[in-house]
Amino acid sequence: MFVVRVVNKKLFLSNGPSCSLSSFKSSLSWWSGVEMGPPDAILGVTEAFKKDTSDKKMNLSVGAYRDDDGKPFILPCVMKAEEILSKKNLDKEYAGIAGVADFCQAAAKLAFGDSSPVIKEGLNATVQGISGTGSLTIGAHFLAQFFPGVKEIYMPTPTWGNHIPIFKRAGLTVKQYRYFDPKTCGFDFTGALQDLAKIPEKSIILLHACAHNPTGVDPKPEQWKEMSKVIKARNLFPFLDMAYQGFATGDIDRDAFALRMLVEDGHQVATAQSFAKNMGLYGERTGAFSVVCADKDEVARTMSQLKIIIRPIYSNPPIHGARIASTILNDPSLRSQWLTDIKVMSDRINTMRIKLKEGLKREGSSRSWDHITDQIGMFCFTGMTPDQVERLIKEFSVYLTKDGRISVAGVSSKNVDYLAHAIHQVTK
Ligand SMILES: Cc1ncc(COP(=O)(O)O)c(C=O)c1O
Repeated sequence: MFVVRVVNKKLFLSNGPSCSLSSFKSSLSWWSGVEMGPPDAILGVTEAFKKDTSDKKMNLSVGAYRDDDGKPFILPCVMKAEEILSKKNLDKEYAGIAGVADFCQAAAKLAFGDSSPVIKEGLNATVQGISGTGSLTIGAHFLAQFFPGVKEIYMPTPTWGNHIPIFKRAGLTVKQYRYFDPKTCGFDFTGALQDLAKIPEKSIILLHACAHNPTGVDPKPEQWKEMSKVIKARNLFPFLDMAYQGFATGDIDRDAFALRMLVEDGHQVATAQSFAKNMGLYGERTGAFSVVCADKDEVARTMSQLKIIIRPIYSNPPIHGARIASTILNDPSLRSQWLTDIKVMSDRINTMRIKLKEGLKREGSSRSWDHITDQIGMFCFTGMTPDQVERLIKEFSVYLTKDGRISVAGVSSKNVDYLAHAIHQVTK
């Protein structure tokens, strides 16, 4: 053992001679065995986009809303909430471990609905999380420690890239069920039902509550109901990732259909919410994790354990985004402004879907592009092959992920025709 000190850019080892930092041999480093990891699939695309000098370049890889000028969009309701908050001269003290209480309750009400028995009878154990990712992580750790059934979680194929490592790292075994049908670019309802029926009883099933990422394909209400029956028959525990409430249809209640229907059907569910997309609070990292309990005593015990999970990870969550979201959700006039803001975003995305499909037809494409308008939410799973994606990037400076997913939120009326042209050139 030796102690390393750095003085004037020189390293001093307590049991040996000094050496300069630049000549410090990698064989001496604690980290010489650390291998280079692969770049993040999405952030890697953005890096390549930044280096591209074409004035036609488009970055359709990132799931963030842009206005029709391609600029980040601060929701008008968020700006108003910030004004209100700044006038209040609030302090910057720590939140409790579970986060900002008003926010947690408002988030749970938004998900389950004001009139839900879960809310009326106070059966939700809800904690604030670091946006959707952090809320999923809290849920994953809770399930890994306390879920009394099989510690396996079944996810749709494909699913959001981060789901698998989040649940694996928490210690759950990750398995998958059929979801997307590449032939129709739609929902593989039969395949999903067949796979669900084979999941070992008392396992966990992960569901995207709405606006499935990456496919933009959601089950229809009657398909959700059939799935609910199978989930009941297999005695599965549903964990709903609700990262896009309002973004699928522009209506927060319609987008909560799956969660609320499962609760009505008697499922005891968990859900992770994000306010990144529906309030544009991306960098504020605002989210919530809720689990439904049988009674208030169970809520208290569950809350105590959720806090024990959170405390050593980040102690307590950031307050600013939660205050913004809580102000919007709890003030009737700001809330109605928010509903309009969501509609503006989802309508613009839907208009781009229609224009892209029309543009492809105009270009002379003989393919069916109906899935562009059938799919919903931020993303379109175009069905393009990795080779076609590579050509789009190299020849047209249109950047997207290898699986052919585009963020329709990044398309504008100024570049949609160029995009249609580029897609047609590589798919004809
Ligand atoms: C399905 C899904 N879940 C969760 C998230 C989490 O996002 P965030 O942590 O930014 O709220 C995302 C973001 O892209 C997502 O697509």
